This record gives sequence, structure tokens and C-alpha cells, in this order.
Amino acid sequence: MTIAPVQRTASLGSSAWTDARLIMALEEVVEKELNRHLKVAKDWMPHEFVPWSQGRDFDGVLGGEAWSVEQSQVTPLGRVSLVVNLLTEDNLPSYHHEIATMFGREGAWGTWVHRWTAEEGRHGIAIRDYLLATRAVDPNELERARMAHMSEGFESDNSHSMLHSVAYVAFQELATRISHRNTGHFAGDPLCDQLLAKIANDENLHMVFYRNLLKAALEIAPDQAMRAIADVVTDFRMPGHGIPGFERAAAQIAIGGVYNLRIHHDDVLQPVLRHLKVMEVADLGPTGQQAQDELGVFLGGLDEQARKFEERQAALLARRAARAGAR
Ligand SMILES: [Fe+2]
Ligand SMILES: [Fe+2]
Repeated sequence: MTIAPVQRTASLGSSAWTDARLIMALEEVVEKELNRHLKVAKDWMPHEFVPWSQGRDFDGVLGGEAWSVEQSQVTPLGRVSLVVNLLTEDNLPSYHHEIATMFGREGAWGTWVHRWTAEEGRHGIAIRDYLLATRAVDPNELERARMAHMSEGFESDNSHSMLHSVAYVAFQELATRISHRNTGHFAGDPLCDQLLAKIANDENLHMVFYRNLLKAALEIAPDQAMRAIADVVTDFRMPGHGIPGFERAAAQIAIGGVYNLRIHHDDVLQPVLRHLKVMEVADLGPTGQQAQDELGVFLGGLDEQARKFEERQAALLARRAARAGAR
């Protein structure tokens, strides 16, 4: 999903908000949003979504049966997508480090950082337990990929700026929600769909938290927030981009309709931008105005790229269907 970044604009002048001032100014909003989140977030139990009775010993220490692909009840697309989603969730220690460093561990910010981390921790636990109990994917390959991925860590593209960080997570949480939800739809197992719907619901609440925070930032510091939104949208990449074999997996995920440019534009970028009325913000200074213009141009171009992608996707799927029919 990497698209050529736009030119970063130069200094915003001496009236620019520093990260420290913004963090203080937004503390009250964080407290309000945290309390709202805690009221609407319903606890759920990951173990209830795992069919433990299907589980059996693997080869190795217990001398059980080795994994083989025909044991998996999940579609090939579901397998690729579940592994990408799980490995993305697995890198939680690095994400925690990034946001704890940026937002701090004190006060309402700190409470949010820890609560968010606890909720995210549930996602990796639930998906891994499900995958292993149902023998949905190769456990050796999964573990090797986890080691490789986590050993690389994760460094945010936005650690230079608090507003860029908030803007990124607002879009990224929604991207993760859509990715889990669509993976569930294509996985071929109703239980997996149910589990991923539950996780997608958490991701949605995370998105709402950050989106509302971004809304407050747009009111406090409109020019800087607009710049941050434009930069993040034009240079967006998924948090799992460092996963071994990510490009190949992302291509399969795109063609299969789990996550692609069309979905990114229609179901991730546009809903957040429309909710915040980003393209309608008036009274911007020259830097904010320029960022808003860049964003408008970029979105038009992305829509066109998405249209071209859909044509290629349709042609490829038609060729596949014809091949399958000829067999
Ligand atoms: Fe998650
Ligand atoms: Fe999340």
C-alpha cells in the first residue's frame, strides 16, 4: 500500500504546537474518550472461540501427528490472511513501546496505553489458539515467521510527531478492523468468522478513540493536524509490512478481496475523512490549505488507481475461473 510520499512542507512557524503542549492540551479529551471506551467495550473470553475438542498433539516432544495441509479446514486465502493478521498482532510489544514512548505512561494517556495493550494482547492469543487447535496453518512455519518478524521489531514511520502518530493509528485501527472482518468472511469456517468479528469490533472501538482524538486535534491545531493527516494518508503502509514474504501475501490478500486499494480507499480512508469533514475544514492557514489540497489530489489519484486495480483483479479472476472450468 506504499504510495510515493508527497513533499513534506517546511516549518510551520513559531506558533506551532509542540508535542508536549499537544499532549497536555489533549489530556482532557483522552480522559473523556477513555471513559466512553470503557463504558462501551465489552469484555470477552478468547478461549470460548477455540474448539479445544478438535485439538491433538503435534509431532516432536509428544510424538503426535505432524501438520499437513489437508488437515486445515480454512481456505488458502484464509490461511495467508490469518497468518498476516496474527503476525501483525504478535508485534504488540513493539507497538506498545512506540505509543508508550510517544503518549507517556502517566495520567489518562497512560491508562489508555495500558488498557489498549491489554485488549490487543487478546487478539494474538485468540487467533493463535484457534489456529493451533484446528490445525489451520503450519505451526512450525508460523513460529519461525513470528520469531523472524518480532526479532525485527517495529519502528513507527511517525515517531517524529504526535499528530502524525494519532492520525496514523486512526486509519490503521480501521484498516485492521476491515482486514480481520474480511478475513473472517473468506476463511470458510463460521467459528473463525465469529472470532474475527469479535476482534474487528475491538479494532473499531480503537479507531473511534483515535478518530475522536484527531477531531479534537483538528480543532486545536488545524494546520498541523491537516498536515499530519495528509502525510499519513499519502504515505500509508500496513503495520505488518515487515513480515517475511509480506509483498507476496499482500498481493494474494488484494486479489482475494480481503484488503486492496479499493477497500483501503472506500472502507478505511474515506469513512474517517468524511466523519472528520477533513475536506470541508475552512479557515486554514497556508500550510493547512496546502495539505488539504494535496490530500484532495491524492485521493482522486488513489480512486483511479483502485479502479485500475479492480480491472486487473476482474481479468485475473475471470482467467482463473476459465482455467478451473476447462479442467
Ligand atoms: Fe488487534
Ligand atoms: Fe486495535
